[in-house]
Amino acid sequence: MLKWSKRRAHKFIYLAFLLLFILYSLLSNQNTSIIHGRMSEEDSTTGASFTTFLPTNSSAYKSTRILGDSDWAKACGSSRSYKRRRRSSARHRRRKGNPKEECDLFSGIWVYDNLTHPLYDEGGCPYMSDQLACTKHGRPDVEYQSLRWQPHGCNLKRWNGREMLEKLRDKRLMFVGDSLNRGQWISMVCLLQSMIPNGKKSMSPNAPLTIFTAEEYNATVEFYWAPLIVESNSDDPVNHRLDDRIIRPNSLFKHASLWKNADILVFNSYLWWRSGPMIKLLWNADDEMCEEADGLDAMTLAMETWADWVASSVDRMRQRVFFVTMSPTHLWSREWNPGSEGNCFEEKTSINIEGYWGSGSDPNTMQMVRSILDRLDSKVTVINITQLSEYRKDGHPSIYRKFWETFSPQQLANPSTYSDCIHWCLPGVPDVWNELLFNLL
Ligand SMILES: *[C@@H]1O[C@H](CO)[C@@H](O)[C@H](O)[C@H]1NC(C)=O
Ligand SMILES: *[C@@H]1O[C@H](CO)[C@@H](O)[C@H](O)[C@H]1NC(C)=O
Ligand SMILES: *[C@@H]1O[C@H](CO)[C@@H](O)[C@H](O)[C@H]1NC(C)=O
Ligand SMILES: *[C@@H]1O[C@H](CO)[C@@H](O)[C@H](O)[C@H]1NC(C)=O
Repeated sequence: MLKWSKRRAHKFIYLAFLLLFILYSLLSNQNTSIIHGRMSEEDSTTGASFTTFLPTNSSAYKSTRILGDSDWAKACGSSRSYKRRRRSSARHRRRKGNPKEECDLFSGIWVYDNLTHPLYDEGGCPYMSDQLACTKHGRPDVEYQSLRWQPHGCNLKRWNGREMLEKLRDKRLMFVGDSLNRGQWISMVCLLQSMIPNGKKSMSPNAPLTIFTAEEYNATVEFYWAPLIVESNSDDPVNHRLDDRIIRPNSLFKHASLWKNADILVFNSYLWWRSGPMIKLLWNADDEMCEEADGLDAMTLAMETWADWVASSVDRMRQRVFFVTMSPTHLWSREWNPGSEGNCFEEKTSINIEGYWGSGSDPNTMQMVRSILDRLDSKVTVINITQLSEYRKDGHPSIYRKFWETFSPQQLANPSTYSDCIHWCLPGVPDVWNELLFNLL
């Protein structure tokens, strides 16, 4: 009797987990396009994958062999579970002391300020993404565009596009990461582009590296698609398989060869590690037997590899490196409004509970990221957007964006089932992430 109920309990827990996972994937992935996002339909025709050989003068990253689609298709025929192993981190140094900062820019409140915000007009930015243009797609309220971030101990320097362009003169600013980072890149382009006359600016949409050029400043603002930082079978911005995710935990030669010459690098990575149960680790290009790790272990390996690259390759005199922490999601309204059953859909105000933290932001991931960044001896500046964005349940597109999939009548009747509570409307929250970047540069 006791045995039987134990088994039933196990079964129940298993089913509950399965259901949660399915719900999560439905809400967050919707056939993958919500997370990877798309700038435009043209992307799918320009999503060229790199099959060429790149120069082999990089000191880091063992394997210089670039895998093509057929290599990925053959990889990891079978797998076993990952045995955590210690990687050497001899090259890292612990940050000396803790240079006491005068003011924590990331701790503060949102203030309604329609005199200074929004910083640009959605319709006035020709590079706006249909995935983020909420007003264009019918969002009726606009107050979410007029919130300004007010740190507790000091004021942010006011955004100044000219000054930012001067900081970027003769430089390459490159955003590297997933669709959240792409949103921040589009925000930056929209923030800057109005300062530049027509004919003196251009966009070359050659995914995975998309480049905005400000001619008179000899400056570029670029986005490079690398959602898992290290090389993976998800490196094509449009065509990537989600059911069977494979990464090369010790390899970012291909990626780094594109980003190593940038002057200012802004990295992010988080949600892709959370959108599936297991991630396969392809240690050597030809392995058929792979290990399988959970998202946190796999992300730790990728971050360690990236940290090795930063430690060995970043030239502190010439380059700046930023890491943007995890972007929060608002998938369960019961977290801020107990008893309710929705998500971010129809949320029009920010959360005003100081220190609010939703279940989408994993504290273990944050701690891992922090301990890795701490070891980089201040070669990397953190843009800690998590807490401030947690408050902004009103900032997501929900149903007010272009979707590429078609929805069933049942879904359409219940909009929260297909709401995007992951990305952010523009103008909106990512503009503030860029104001922070401007302040930290
Ligand atoms: C997923 O998207 C692709 C193209 O974007 C489409 O061909 C496919 O039918 C979609 N699958 C589902 C289950 O909606
Ligand atoms: C700003 O907000 C106030 C109060 O809601 C309103 O009276 C005013 O017209 C707004 N100004 C602009 C420029 O939108
Ligand atoms: C433009 O900027 C690049 C660095 O991004 C620099 O190497 C080059 O010399 C600059 N060109 C001019 C004309 O200043
Ligand atoms: C970001 O801020 C949170 C508090 O809001 C803190 O717990 C976390 O450690 C910070 N992350 C990093 C990488 O510094």
